[in-house]
Amino acid sequence: MDKLAGLVNRAAKVFTPALHLYYPITIAKGSGATIESTDGKRYLDFSSGLAVLNVGHNHPRVLEAARKQLDSFVHTGGIYYSETSVAAAEKLVTITPEGLDMLFFSNSGAEAVEGALKLARFVTGRQGIVSFTGAFHGRTLGAISVTTSTALYRRRYHPLLPSVYHSPYPSCFRCPFQAGPDTCGLSCLRYLRSLFERQIPAEEVAAVIIEPVLGEGGYYPAPARFLAELRKLCTEHGILLIFDEVQSGMGRTGRWFAGELSSVVPDIMTVAKGIASGFPLSAVVAGKELMQRWEPGAHGTTFGGNPVSCAASIATIEVIQKQKLLDKSTLGGDRALNRLRRIAARFPVVGDVRGFGYMIGIEFVDKLGEPDADACRKVLDHCLANGLILIGCGPKRNIVRFIPPLVVTDAEMEAALDIFEEGVKGVQ
Ligand SMILES: Cc1ncc(COP(=O)(O)O)c(C=O)c1O
Repeated sequence: MDKLAGLVNRAAKVFTPALHLYYPITIAKGSGATIESTDGKRYLDFSSGLAVLNVGHNHPRVLEAARKQLDSFVHTGGIYYSETSVAAAEKLVTITPEGLDMLFFSNSGAEAVEGALKLARFVTGRQGIVSFTGAFHGRTLGAISVTTSTALYRRRYHPLLPSVYHSPYPSCFRCPFQAGPDTCGLSCLRYLRSLFERQIPAEEVAAVIIEPVLGEGGYYPAPARFLAELRKLCTEHGILLIFDEVQSGMGRTGRWFAGELSSVVPDIMTVAKGIASGFPLSAVVAGKELMQRWEPGAHGTTFGGNPVSCAASIATIEVIQKQKLLDKSTLGGDRALNRLRRIAARFPVVGDVRGFGYMIGIEFVDKLGEPDADACRKVLDHCLANGLILIGCGPKRNIVRFIPPLVVTDAEMEAALDIFEEGVKGVQ
């Protein structure tokens, strides 16, 4: 039995099958946009470890900061203060939208979402929560209650959190109301208004939670016009607007946070994934006025704000600033989008290419324009066989997430696009 098969077998004995790993690759080393497997193969990692490694694998400055912290102490458990954790919070609020200046550190995206929902219910005294169809907010019970990217994640877990309502996400390429750019009357917003008329009065809704760019649900950016109107609607009814920036944040779209693309500022924001380059950390961020009404004991954590993760987070933000990775993501993303759109123009199996910065979705379609999961799978397989790791998304698994680390070099990007193009040619 070769080494990899041996490890897969060992893993199957100790990991429940509920844990899904994408690919049979055993990582030996990671550096920048590449990984090396234990069998000596090199891969371009355009999954960024599930949109986490925005500054790449093992950035030396991040490692150095983490090591330095390791030499002093590792854990506080909420017993003592740590200079590093306070400094990380201070650093994070320098990049969050103005007014979002107080936070609660947790460990994962789902935990941050739980925190955001709890905060909203606590400070408003209301119960209702509205989320959007196709959303992915994590796997804990509260988080799956607002997640509808696939019924698989909710199956056999009902009853979920009560008083959660779902409104259609403005996923324009597959408009839930079959409208086009010229006929769009913001029906998604009209639906939400009717939800307040028919299902739950707006004054009983604590929060509306939305990903400014739908992630797992298909990489659909919400139109700026929609987010602006949603902001108005929430303000009008005293509903807190939560942006889940777990996947779209930390520079991925060329802005610190994707909400900036529409100039809409939420009341609460969740941040995780890229916040600490692979060290577990997340945050619920909101304005002081709101946060100060969240009373002592209303929320808590043992590991949240771990000092090693916090040291890595400070270094991550500094790297993004010093290496000007926001500009790089915007410019590099535009170039990648252009080339991908040229590919789409030549090969009808690519129905749509969309996104901002290095958060790009590529949607595969059949001759009738319906989702083509088979073509998508074949292209992903071709890419993997040729040393390019990409992952899919969308309810039908027909969309490729093109999400390289922001530090990807031009040569790596060109190589990846060449491999991808060959893969697309192969499914024509
Ligand atoms: C938008 C969004 N929210 C929340 C989560 C959950 O994050 P985690 O897996 O760290 O709990 C994810 C994970 O993919 C996500 O994309």
